[in-house]
Amino acid sequence: MQILSGKELSRIIQTQVKEDVAEWVAGGGKQPHLAVILVGNDGGSETYVGHKVRMCERLGIKSSLIRHSDGISESALLSEIEKLNNDEEIDGFIVQLPLPKHIEVNKVIAAIDYRKDVDGFHPINIGRMTQNTPCFLPATPYGIMQILEHYKIDTQGKECVVLGRSNIVGRPVSILMSNNGYPGNATVTVCHSRTKNLKEHTRKADILIVALGIPEFVTADMVKEGVVIIDVGTTRVADDTRKRGYRLSGDVKYSEVAPKCSAITPVPGGVGPMTVISLIKNTVRAVKGEVYEK
Ligand code: GUN
Repeated sequence: MQILSGKELSRIIQTQVKEDVAEWVAGGGKQPHLAVILVGNDGGSETYVGHKVRMCERLGIKSSLIRHSDGISESALLSEIEKLNNDEEIDGFIVQLPLPKHIEVNKVIAAIDYRKDVDGFHPINIGRMTQNTPCFLPATPYGIMQILEHYKIDTQGKECVVLGRSNIVGRPVSILMSNNGYPGNATVTVCHSRTKNLKEHTRKADILIVALGIPEFVTADMVKEGVVIIDVGTTRVADDTRKRGYRLSGDVKYSEVAPKCSAITPVPGGVGPMTVISLIKNTVRAVKGEVYEK
């Protein structure tokens, strides 16, 4: 059984990105600058945003964290976005999700200038991804594709089952996995909370991508021998034996499922680190005008 270490791959990419940024700046290019809007103080979001900001620092990228209380109105948030759209110093920015219930997330995403949408959530980027034309890819699906590529996982003609239909992971990764290319070219089934006979689907999977946010949902009886599993789940589960009082749990019951796999991503150290570095890669592509001309 092979461990698909996103942590290790992320380190390799970090070295490349750091060199790339240094060379770009030495050649007179503008130092990349990522802005992150964080609304409220959701524990998970705080952690993710912290990782994003620290990664920027390590790689020679400027970052600005813009915090708002969860009482911010939708219109005030939209004005903040408009400011960043017009700020030439900012090459790319994201609005960390989830947002409070009184804010319509799709309205917020649509307000972001798609040329600065380094999260790849804007309808133009999603549309272009679907057409397989240049765009910013959503960070987590982009990270997953890099893992498959780096570890040379065969995807062509394989049965790929995706659990979860979120706009952030499930649906975009299902599109990328069915693209005519590599990684891709798989036969993809998207399963969700209304899927009947779920186990019948998951047991057919050569590649199983799980993005539900339900700790240890996938058990050994649900998968076949030799499956490749990408576990996107990172849920905080109370754990008194840990200093911080919780541990991160994946969506897969690792201890019993891993022995059946030909390859699997661990949690932590699998998909998570790849999400962060993929966002950074998008930011560097933004400053260079590699996706959309400046
Ligand atoms: N919340 C969970 N994942 C993500 C992500 O990739 N981007 C943003 N903006 N919010 C998230």
